[in-house]
Amino acid sequence: MDRILIRGGRPLEGEIVIGGAKNAALPLLAAGLLTDERLLLSNVPALADIATMSELLAQHGIAVEPAGADGRSLSLGGAIRSTEAPYDIVRKMRASVLVLGPLLARAGEARVSLPGGCAIGTRPVDLHLKGLEQMGAVIALEGGYINARVPDGRLRGAAIVLALPSVGATENLMLAASLAEGETSIANAAREPEITDLAACLCAMGARITGIGTDRLVIEGVPRLHGAAHRIVADRIETGTYACAAAIAGGSLLLRHARLDHMAALARVLHEAGIEVEAEADGVRIRRRNGLRGVDAMTEPYPGFPTDMQAQFMALMAVAEGAAMLTETIFENRFMHVPELNRMGARINVHGASAIVRGVAQLSGAPVMATDLRASVSLILAGLAARGETMVSRVYHLDRGYEAVERKLAACGADIERI
Ligand code: EPZ
Repeated sequence: MDRILIRGGRPLEGEIVIGGAKNAALPLLAAGLLTDERLLLSNVPALADIATMSELLAQHGIAVEPAGADGRSLSLGGAIRSTEAPYDIVRKMRASVLVLGPLLARAGEARVSLPGGCAIGTRPVDLHLKGLEQMGAVIALEGGYINARVPDGRLRGAAIVLALPSVGATENLMLAASLAEGETSIANAAREPEITDLAACLCAMGARITGIGTDRLVIEGVPRLHGAAHRIVADRIETGTYACAAAIAGGSLLLRHARLDHMAALARVLHEAGIEVEAEADGVRIRRRNGLRGVDAMTEPYPGFPTDMQAQFMALMAVAEGAAMLTETIFENRFMHVPELNRMGARINVHGASAIVRGVAQLSGAPVMATDLRASVSLILAGLAARGETMVSRVYHLDRGYEAVERKLAACGADIERI
């Protein structure tokens, strides 16, 4: 099994190209179920999760094929052949549940394996199901599966108020509502840039959506959607991760194609910690000239500080001067990187939903492993700043969400290799 070896202590200098957002690409692939016509997605990142979603679509009858010469475009097309999303695929990736809304809207039925809990929390899908029931679906949970059907044949619009701004529920319901009869409103909707990106693509396919980018989406259903071409938004979490890499290792990085407007909360805390973050013509420049200061942060739905950046920011705070309190409000179990960082010499205590990070002058390399994507990459960041060698195992977590992390960092001067 692959591992990543880092010899720390080298500053980063140069440019990293930021890819398309994984968490935008996954619901956009699910949107391919909403039409028989061709959907062309460009700026698609080459990631294990994209391959998993493509496999799931193929199982439903939608072929996902490489298009164009850049190796970053996918063409989706075909008629729905099966409405079952089997356990074997869903267990690999929870985002598989995003096919539920489109299948119900298009085929009037779906049988989707219930995603289990995962390393970061229990992660129920009750809000997805409640919203779809309000739209006329009849849903039963049997044998680990969500069995859903639409007795009237077509979903109907509804006034949905989400109990919390779930990203996945907002996406599933928006996908379903675009083909429902009449108007659907989603109040307390999530407003992450990935949702705005999905809405933009749906509109290009003929959907009628207003309130995009706000916490109240209104979708006027249409009888059918058509093909379209859509370029996937830059990955704000990949951007933030490399911003933390430059901050922890020192030096200066240009993150090409990055969007500063999508990372305002992170930019604010990085700035308070002593890091320069500036927009440039086609990207964001990150520079560390001086020492790092400890800064508190609390995860929140967008536009707040992202939970997907908590682990990486914690690695940074582990070597800052003073203390930082990092509070996780989105997932109940997202501190698995703490014991691993502590094995590298960090001083972090967790109490409930908060971690107190007391900065140390230097981390020391160690063999480490993590059980989720962002936790794994936080260990790589720690390795960049540590004295000696850090070996990160279970790299398959990384490959789900970071394309060529070792090559991108090595090209900017890091001593890092895949073994
Ligand atoms: C998305 O997950 C992302 N995944 C996650 O990315 C991200 O951490 C998360 O949003 C929060 O920003 C994708 O976009 C594919 P939620 P999602 O529904 O949609 C609770 C990464 O590392 N909840 O907004 O599953 C839930 O348990 C990851 O790339 C319910 O209670 O997140 C959680 O506590 C991992 N009932 C909170 O809401 C529901 O029906 C937020 O979850 C749905 C969610």
